[in-house]
Amino acid sequence: MPRLRIAVLVSGGGTNLQAILDAIQGGRLDAEVACVISNRKAAFALERARKFGIDDHYIGKGNYPDAIDREGALLDVLKTAHVDLIVLAGYLSILPPALINCFKNRIINIHPSLLPSFSGEGFYGEHVHRAVLAAKVTHTGATVHFVDEGVDTGNIIAQKQLEVLADDSVATLSKRVLVLEHALLIETLIAITQGKITIGEEASYETKSAY
Ligand code: GRF
Repeated sequence: MPRLRIAVLVSGGGTNLQAILDAIQGGRLDAEVACVISNRKAAFALERARKFGIDDHYIGKGNYPDAIDREGALLDVLKTAHVDLIVLAGYLSILPPALINCFKNRIINIHPSLLPSFSGEGFYGEHVHRAVLAAKVTHTGATVHFVDEGVDTGNIIAQKQLEVLADDSVATLSKRVLVLEHALLIETLIAITQGKITIGEEASYETKSAY
């Protein structure tokens, strides 16, 4: 079976991307990152891609101000790279419906909460953890889900949870959840390469806390 070809879409530091690259280099994940695309030119994630010799692309309002052109550029890169799976790893732009339909059940996102809690418009990065602390919930975690046309609304594939500590701050909580994200994302990708999770038109899987 040919190795899973992954496109990783990023906007920030790229620690989830780095977790994927390290898992591949360490022989845990039988896949290849075909390309990394960011909507932010200065995203350090692009630097991480370059260090691994991976095609990195900036496709954002700065170089494609017109939304249709931006969508076309994204599709061109993804189709040229012949990717099997698109991973949104801290990607802070909404994908156009046409692209989502092109890659039905072939786009996954890692979200830093136990969906459906703390999701939707504005719930990203530290905003999520600030809301978790304000809600005084006892647990939070991370979720990998298929991407549909909503924000954080696609079918949930896997989740991992952790306890919110009494002395947790946004900084300490986000750091602990980020570690959980990395573990969950890699485990989910490994499960996809092993056929335990089927992607694409005939997607099938059980929502689990660990694969
Ligand atoms: C983090 O807040 C993470 O929770 C979410 O995206 C943000 C950046 O992640 N998935 P990364 O370090 O750029 O992968």
